[in-house]
Order: sequence, then C-alpha cells, then structure tokens
Amino acid sequence: MTIAPDCPSDAPDGALPSSADRPDGGGNAAGHPGPAAVAGAGDHGPETGVVGAGGAERSPFVAALGFAVRRWLDWPRDLAVTLIGVSVATLSDVLTPLVAGRLISDVTQGAPSVSSVIGDGAAHHALADAKWMLAAMAGLGLVSLLGRRASFLGITWLTVNMMRDVAQTSFARLQRFSTDWHANTFAGSTVRKLTRGMWAIDALNDNLLLMLVPEMLVLTGTTLVLGWHWPVMGLLLGGMSVVFVALSCVLTLRYVAPGARKANRWDSRVGAALADAITCNPVVKAFGAEEREEARLGRTLAIWRKRTGRSWTRGTNSGNVQNLAVTVMRVVLASCVVWLWWNGRAGPGDVAYVLTMIFLVQGYLRDIGQQVSVVQRSVNEMEELVAIWNQPPAVADVPGARPLVITRGEIRFEHVLFHYKGQTGPLFRDLDVEIPAGSRVGLVGPSGSGKSTFTKLLQRLYDINGGRILIDGVDIATVQQSSLRAQIAIVQQEPILFHRSLAENIAYARPGASQAEIERAAELANASGFIDRLPQGYDTLVGERGVKLSGGERQRVAIARAFLADARILILDEATASLDSESEALVQEAMERLMRDRTVIVIAHRLATVVGLDRILVFERGVVREDGPHVELIRLEGGLYRRLYELQSL
Ligand SMILES: Nc1ncnc2c1ncn2[C@@H]1O[C@H](COP(=O)(O)OP(=O)(O)OP(=O)(O)O)[C@@H](O)[C@H]1O
Ligand SMILES: [Mg+2]
Repeated sequence: MTIAPDCPSDAPDGALPSSADRPDGGGNAAGHPGPAAVAGAGDHGPETGVVGAGGAERSPFVAALGFAVRRWLDWPRDLAVTLIGVSVATLSDVLTPLVAGRLISDVTQGAPSVSSVIGDGAAHHALADAKWMLAAMAGLGLVSLLGRRASFLGITWLTVNMMRDVAQTSFARLQRFSTDWHANTFAGSTVRKLTRGMWAIDALNDNLLLMLVPEMLVLTGTTLVLGWHWPVMGLLLGGMSVVFVALSCVLTLRYVAPGARKANRWDSRVGAALADAITCNPVVKAFGAEEREEARLGRTLAIWRKRTGRSWTRGTNSGNVQNLAVTVMRVVLASCVVWLWWNGRAGPGDVAYVLTMIFLVQGYLRDIGQQVSVVQRSVNEMEELVAIWNQPPAVADVPGARPLVITRGEIRFEHVLFHYKGQTGPLFRDLDVEIPAGSRVGLVGPSGSGKSTFTKLLQRLYDINGGRILIDGVDIATVQQSSLRAQIAIVQQEPILFHRSLAENIAYARPGASQAEIERAAELANASGFIDRLPQGYDTLVGERGVKLSGGERQRVAIARAFLADARILILDEATASLDSESEALVQEAMERLMRDRTVIVIAHRLATVVGLDRILVFERGVVREDGPHVELIRLEGGLYRRLYELQSL
C-alpha cells in the first residue's frame, strides 16, 4: 500500500513512467495518426467502446470502477475491517474537538482565581469534569490510533489480495486467449497493461476507502451541524457542496478521463515498442540498426509525450476550475452572511462562526477534488486490464465439453472451410482429408500453401468457419481443448524453449517424468551428446526462448519432448530442417522408432524426409493437389510433386 499516487517505478516491469506520476490526465483530442506499425496495428482489446464522446466515453470507466468494487466484495472481511477502522478513527477525530471545547470551559470555570467567586464545590466539579475530559481525550486518541491501524492493516491485505488475484486470473485468461489474439497483440503492451492495472488497484483503494469515504462523512456531518445552528446557511452550504462534487465528477469523467485514456494507450504502446525492439535485438545488431530503432522509439515517445502532456494539462485545468468554484462558493456564502448582518439578522459572532465553517468545508472540498482525480486516474489505468478481463476467449470450450480420449488416432477433415482474419479469402475451401489411424502422412507443397495451418486446425488453435474435424470420430470442437492438445505431440518448425533447465524443458511434455526417462528421451532424440558436453548438463539454463542453444540443438530438445509425450498423434513440422546431415541421419532413425504405432503428420520441404512415408499430400494454395505414396506421385506426368522432386534432385 502506498498513500502517494501510484508509483510505477515499483511496478515489476519498471518501464517508462506511467501517466500516474503527475497531476493526471488529458490527451490528444486531435486524434494523431502516429506510426501505425509502432502503434501496434490490430492490437486487440481495449479499443472497444473507448472512442466516441459523451455516454460512450463513460462506459469503460464505469466498467473499470464496477470491476474494482466487485473485487472488494471478494474480500468482505478485509473490506469490513478497513471501513469500520476508518469510520471509528474519523468519528474519534470529529469528537476530539468537542471534548477539547468542554475541557476549555471546565478550566475557565474552575480556575483557582475564580474558585473564590464560584465556590469550592463548583471548582471541584469542574476539576472532576476536566479529568473526565482528559481521560476521554486519551481514550479517543487511542481509539483513533487503533481504528487507523485496523484500517491500514485491512487495506493492506485487501489490496495485496486483490492484486494477487487480478494478476493470477488475468494471466490465466491471457494464456487461454486464441493463437490469433497472441499473434495480433504485443507481449510488451500486454505486460504493461497488466502491471499498470495491478498497481492502479493500490492507488484506487487508498484514495477511495482511506480518504474519500471519511472526507465525505465529515463533510456531510459538518454541513448537518451548520444546518442545525442555522438552517438557511446549512442548506446553502450543502447545496453548493453537492454542486461542487457533481462538477468534479463531470470534469473528471467527461474531460480528464478521455484524455488520460488516450495517454494510457500510448503508454502501452511504448511498452510494446520497447519489448519488440529488445526481443529482436539480434536482428538489430546484425544490421547495425541501433540508431534506426532509437529513432523509431523516439517517434512513439514523441506522441506519448504529447498525449501525456495534454492529459496532465487537462488535469491541471480541471484542478483550477475546481479551485475557482471553491473561491466563488466562499465569496457567495460570505456575502450572504454579510447581507444577513446588514439586515440585522446576524451578529458579529454569527459571521465569525459561518466564516470558520466555510474555511473548514473548503479544505475538505479541495481534498475531495484531489481524491476524485486520483480515483479517476487509477480507474483509467485499470481500463485496459478490465477490457482484457471482459474479452471472451476466441476459441472457447463448448459448455459441458468433455476430455477427449484418443485411442486409435484416426483423423478426418470434412468439408473444412477456413479463413484467416485479415486475409482476403479463405485458405481452405471444402477441404476433405482422411488419415487412417497409425498411418504416416507427409505434407509437402510450396511455402504458404497451408501445411502448418492444417496442423494448427487439428490442434484447434483456430476455429474453422465450416465443416468438421474429427479424431476417432469425435468432433474436436466439442471436446476440451486442453485434453485435445495434450494428446497431440508436436515438434515445431521453430521450437521455443523456456528459460528453464534442459531437464525441465524436456519434461514439459510429461510433468513428473524421472531423470532416467528424460535422459532416455534425450538419447532417442540424439540430444544427449551435446547435453553431456555442457558443464551443467541437464541443469543448463537455455536463455529466453532457448537462444543459448543452436538451432539444431533446440530442435533436438523439442524432439526429445515429443518422445516423452508419447502421444497417439505426432506432428513433425520441419523437424529435421536445422540438422546437419550426420545428426539428421541419426534423428531420422530415432524418428522411425518414434513413429511406430502412431498417426504421424510430417511437414517437410526436403522431400527426402517424406519419401518413405505411407502417403504424401501435396498442398498448393490451400488445396490438396495430389495424394498418394512417393512411388505413385513421382510417376505423375507434369505433377506438382514430381516437379518439386526433380528440382531438389538437381
Ligand atoms: N496468423 C495468421 N494470420 C493470417 N494469415 C496467416 C496466419 N498464419 C498463416 N497465414 C497465412 O496462411 C497461409 C498459409 O500459411 P502456412 O503457415 O499454413 O503455410 P505453410 O505451408 O506452412 O508454409 P511454410 O512451408 O513456409 O511453413 C499463408 O499465406 C500465410 O501468410
Ligand atoms: Mg509451415
């Protein structure tokens, strides 16, 4: 918990300062076009429902506020401790001046110099009362201290619990978003949205629960007390306070928040641009393009600067208007009381009393204005996170989906229609393919003809637009995705490894595999040789995405994973592409073993890999042009396979 407004340098990713460190937000109303490529064209999610004026602007704000309130209710005990603590502390603070006032009157009544006048009995009575008042003061001080302590402890646990839950659940949701979503979203900007949203909860809780709630309570109480003494003035003050709070809210929601939202979007883009350039650092180095990348980031930062500057200026403008409103209020109320005095309806004491009240209330109103703007900023910072929460996963399990059990491994594509979003036409139209259980099929064809997509559809990484895909006669759209994918082993074209030990990377296919099983799999994949030569062997960390291994080594680790997975269906997407001839021969032999008794799909550009398979499907622009074993296809006069084969034999 930090009482100071959200401190982004605390945030785990510690990227650029968010718009939160300065007096809040406004933005570029001009709608700057900006470098679209850097801006993350097609960056999904929070764009929805943001653009547009008036009511349309408010909905993401209200959604984010509602989101926070619902998260509070998940922790009723912590919330109750906070609210009770803060109310008790506020009440004792309000009562303390009353006790102090009575103590003053006790001491003025019972002072030794006046005891001769009022009599010893009265003086003693005053002394006894003064002692009680002292005790009450101490008691109230203690209660206030305990109340404050309870509220701070309550809010500490409320906030960390909420932050933990939000991070955990957001991560769970993100992981389940479709391959398409991940392909279209910058990892860096997602990380930024998530961490910024997490830390915004901290600022929101502090300002709403610890400050705004007690301030509103005291303001209401003070106005009521004034109204009790002097109904007209009370009514006037109450009415003006309501107008002031309404003005603050309108300014915040209609003027400051939309600008802050734009600034935040550019803040996410800065995160995305940074992450993109840093991840691709090897390419940047290879082309000596450091300065180009700096200029590119500079363009994003220039727009970020403009929008964030405008956002903060709007915050300052809003603050100035609020202060002006407070000043006007003071002058109107003071004029009223002077007018009453002129008409003989108020004495000098009344004037002094009303002026004191005005100054008191004015202080509260200023504080409330500030808290409202901090709340606005926090809620704005949560909006992009909430948009992620509210986004349904594109590929979802149907209600009541059951786990798939693959026993034989028969695959059937029936009239499959598939269209990538962003492509002009469908890739597959009425695609019919049948792969009997236990058969080994090669997919060949020119680059971009749909071979990888075919295997992605089999794993249901994308939903098809028509037709059905069946495994063992079960439509894969009706089963749990996780069970489907867990039973299909795959060695990708470009294997990605975790920055974890080699043993963990291999065992990823089967958590809980023994060291002996891991080593056996590595041996079968022809990976044990290079692993044994590493000083830390199976405990070696492989670097982010496996960058500390060579391409061929990475591939062999992925093959070892597939050995360990022991799935009925095996997909090898260019699995031997990065191997030298010697290791390829060894892997080929190992793969022969691995392929036994499984349904295997082998994608290969080098046709030597598929020559020995049962059958070869030749893809061209999403259509299966030829289908048959090598010996048959090679005989086809003018056939595509034959042409490709002849080209490679040259
Ligand atoms: N996520 C995507 N969004 C839009 N289009 C895509 C996406 N992935 C692939 N494509 C397009 O679909 C077509 C088929 O791609 P696919 O990766 O299946 O080809 P491939 O046959 O595996 O090619 P290669 O031999 O080069 O690996 C290509 O035109 C490609 O640009
Ligand atoms: Mg491919």
